[in-house]
Amino acid sequence: MSAQPATSFNNNQASLDSHIRPFEKSASNNTLSSVVEDAATPPLSTSSFSKHLPLLHSAALKPDFRRGSGDSGYDEGSSSPSPLATPDLAPSVASGTGSGAESPVSLDEFSFGHKLRAEDRAEHHGVDQKINLAGLNGLDIGGVTGLETGSFVASAMMPIRYEIKCVDGILDTSNTDLLVGIDCSVFPVMMKPYTGEPVGRRLVIVDNNVYALYGDKIKAYFDHHGVESHIHPLRASENTKEFDSVQELLQQFKNFDIDRRNEPIIAVGGGVTLDICSLAANLWRRNTPVVKVPTTLIGMVDAGVGVKTAVNWCGGKNKIGTYCAPLGVFVDAEQFLGSTGGRGVGNGMGEILKMACVKDVELFELMEGWVAAKPEIEGRAPTSMIMKRAIQGMLEELSPNLFEHTLYRVVDYGHTFSPFVEMDALETNKPLLHGEAVNLDMALSTMLAHNRGWLYPASASHSFSLVRRTYALMSALGLPLRHASFTADNCITALGEIEKARGGRVRVPLMSGGIGMTRFADDVCEDEVRRAWEDMCELVGEMESNGELMGQFGAEGQVTEGPLE
Ligand SMILES: NC(=O)c1ccc[n+]([C@@H]2O[C@H](COP(=O)([O-])OP(=O)(O)OC[C@H]3O[C@@H](n4cnc5c(N)ncnc54)[C@H](O)[C@@H]3O)[C@@H](O)[C@H]2O)c1
Repeated sequence: MSAQPATSFNNNQASLDSHIRPFEKSASNNTLSSVVEDAATPPLSTSSFSKHLPLLHSAALKPDFRRGSGDSGYDEGSSSPSPLATPDLAPSVASGTGSGAESPVSLDEFSFGHKLRAEDRAEHHGVDQKINLAGLNGLDIGGVTGLETGSFVASAMMPIRYEIKCVDGILDTSNTDLLVGIDCSVFPVMMKPYTGEPVGRRLVIVDNNVYALYGDKIKAYFDHHGVESHIHPLRASENTKEFDSVQELLQQFKNFDIDRRNEPIIAVGGGVTLDICSLAANLWRRNTPVVKVPTTLIGMVDAGVGVKTAVNWCGGKNKIGTYCAPLGVFVDAEQFLGSTGGRGVGNGMGEILKMACVKDVELFELMEGWVAAKPEIEGRAPTSMIMKRAIQGMLEELSPNLFEHTLYRVVDYGHTFSPFVEMDALETNKPLLHGEAVNLDMALSTMLAHNRGWLYPASASHSFSLVRRTYALMSALGLPLRHASFTADNCITALGEIEKARGGRVRVPLMSGGIGMTRFADDVCEDEVRRAWEDMCELVGEMESNGELMGQFGAEGQVTEGPLE
């Protein structure tokens, strides 16, 4: 035996010994919280799966999940026929040849069968084998060669598709989008498609502030359509974005006795509600579909667009979460944004400005035009083109990297220093909204880019004018450029935190070559952050005294507490 494996085994063993802690099952820890707390100990395994790249052959792409080709969907463990996407297969299975059961295949047959492509196996063993055709269920069974090699490799492709629809009047009784406007054929749940029959029941999780404003309308909507609805108001704020809220919802799912293939959960609220509800739904039976109805601008252009779910934990922002695609998303800016006030709109505009800065100068100009056209942003929804460009830009960046395989993400612009600053501000009497914290980060990042000579390399004075222009827009959008938690020291601490979160490199996205273009810096250091922070404060002070910062919150950093006014 070579020395190397023995050494590494011993190292692992030492690490194992130091982290093992007996788990005592008792009434007090028989909860999800208890399990999660145990998970706080460092991970034990560091084995790499990266070499096992997914196998893909033509069969894996055959079934088209995009068009609801299956005629029904059933849960596992059900005595009902199994769901099949391809209509030509369904009748054979429904005829009662043991659907869902394992095929009675001997070891010899299997060792022969595993060399064949899935279609050939189906022919060899009968139609039931088609239940688990490669691609049909996401599994590539054609590549398992362990009986020969002793090394088993699982590989799977996961088709993902969900729609984000911009709609009008989502709660109008004449509008049926919320009930039947959803593509049900998403992988892996394969919900029962709509057949025109009345929709049975719906569990609706609603942000409690939204419930106070729109609860009656939501109830009336489902009543009108003869849908038995249970509406659960959820206390949703950054302070309640905790695992307790997830458990509260899990209890609701249980009480409702949700039929997850036929009754998608409907989440109505801001980013916090969507994040909590999506995480709970993803945990409930390992994935229960959610239809998202964002009610804040940030929910519409960001939290509702991607696949990330999360809650905060132990003072850390979004520390516990999953990746899980929604069943569908409905964006109705006119319906909801009027009640979020100027601060709510500005909050969302922070995330839209992010997309403008890193990849869409036209969006930046549209935003400048929008604030210039009418300085008062109170309750104004952005134009439809601003909304669409923001969503489009976000999806262009997210779709190729849904699971964050690469941590060089331009959508992380404004998210380097802000997670720490946002959490720190929660402890003050003036908590920041998410988009406000992101804005502070972007203000610093803009100065970092300028100081590096990246923002506009050809001309330092033009570069500086771009910094001013960016700060002026931020202020006009009602976004803060100061806050008690936005200190140089906190930003430096944040840099250290983000380095850990981003796999050992800071990967700071910065504007480069003008507004709308990005490059990443891996070598941002503490001194550089401190200098940029001081330069930023100086410029903000100068612009303030010149009357160039006209926003409601920009000059004073006067953000208010609690829910949106
Ligand atoms: N999952 C993701 O990819 C993702 C992306 C961006 C942000 N987020 C998360 O989203 C959260 C921020 O979202 P948010 O800004 O919507 O916060 P939020 O959900 O807390 O909403 C802000 C406030 O507005 C209230 N509110 C919601 N809709 C309203 C309406 N129509 N009228 C009046 N009041 C309304 C809420 O009750 C809350 O008090 C953060 O926790 C952030 O981490 C997640």
